[in-house]
Amino acid sequence: MSGREDRPGEGLGTSDPRGVGPGVERQQGVGPGGAEPPSAKADDAGRRAVGGASVRHPATSRGDIVLEGRGITRDYHVSGGFLRGTKVVHAVRGVDFAVPRGKTLAIVGESGCGKSTLARIITLIDPPTSGTLLIEGKPVEISGGRPPRDLRSRVQIVFQNPHGSLNPRQKIGNVLMEPLELNTDLPAAERRDRARGMLEKVGLLPEHFDRYPHMFSGGQRQRIAIARALMVNPAILVLDEPVSALDLSVQAQVLNLLADLQKEFRLTYVFISHDLSVVRHIADEVMVMLRGEVVERGSRDAVFADPQHEYTRTLFAATPVTSLPAIRARVERKAMRREATGQRHPAN
Ligand SMILES: Nc1ncnc2c1ncn2[C@@H]1O[C@H](COP(=O)(O)OP(=O)(O)O)[C@@H](O)[C@H]1O
Ligand SMILES: [Mg+2]
Repeated sequence: MSGREDRPGEGLGTSDPRGVGPGVERQQGVGPGGAEPPSAKADDAGRRAVGGASVRHPATSRGDIVLEGRGITRDYHVSGGFLRGTKVVHAVRGVDFAVPRGKTLAIVGESGCGKSTLARIITLIDPPTSGTLLIEGKPVEISGGRPPRDLRSRVQIVFQNPHGSLNPRQKIGNVLMEPLELNTDLPAAERRDRARGMLEKVGLLPEHFDRYPHMFSGGQRQRIAIARALMVNPAILVLDEPVSALDLSVQAQVLNLLADLQKEFRLTYVFISHDLSVVRHIADEVMVMLRGEVVERGSRDAVFADPQHEYTRTLFAATPVTSLPAIRARVERKAMRREATGQRHPAN
């Protein structure tokens, strides 16, 4: 095992760098209601039902909307089996969203509701069947095949399982430099400098440059995946269950890292998770999906304090919503017990 996960100042005892503990009022909103007159009050304002969904439109001026989706739809044609022809799966059905720069939109919903499909559309991996995606105000042209590389580098994705996305035969330095080789014309020396700089930004060490993925812990591998995503200087990071495979204490560290990076680079996040305690920690706005549709959206505080849609309430009831401070306290108590009994902290 190479190195410890913990960094000074990033441990569990640190306060939330964004100061978004529960109860902190958020001003900024996300949603297609961004065009709402500023006089509308954030909460009651736009509690309106759209197609049976309870949708609260927060009072945000359109401001600097970095990512927007209008009526995004995605159908899959799947084989129904021998002689049964094909059937259509409506994975995403007319989803709207708008995320201001530097903010986090969380997408929640049970498995199969269309979260990853939407993630791939936003990241320009797959085109939508219909609808319009706008990145930094510009509609993405989907008819002409792959979008240009300049546009593709504006949106990057981090998956749940960094094992799958890291080539086991590639040294970390090369993992980080590769996106620059593919997307830029930077000379080799500069690629190397940038990769080393990024290692440090994500809390890894210069000597990690020449190591292989298997030499790292799960949390460290996720740091590498985040570093790789940031190499091309994206505006938007799509995080598809980025901490779901990690231990609780490591989850907290990676979430803190993401919060630091968001602040430093003014990144816009689309954060996908089924874990409401994580969403509560990281989200500015929450969008709840059910069978490909948005059934509720609103500011994190509004949705958590007063969920409007029956499905959101069921989701919340099924998941114990623990705040991050509570998770930290639990992990710290465990660590103290281990210390008292003379056990070593396992490398994470
Ligand atoms: N490549 C694909 N081909 C056919 N069906 C798919 C494909 N990807 C996803 N689906 C279907 O689309 C729906 C949404 O899947 P997905 O976006 O992966 O949901 P989630 O990430 O919320 O679990 C599911 O019914 C899934 O089976
Ligand atoms: Mg998924």
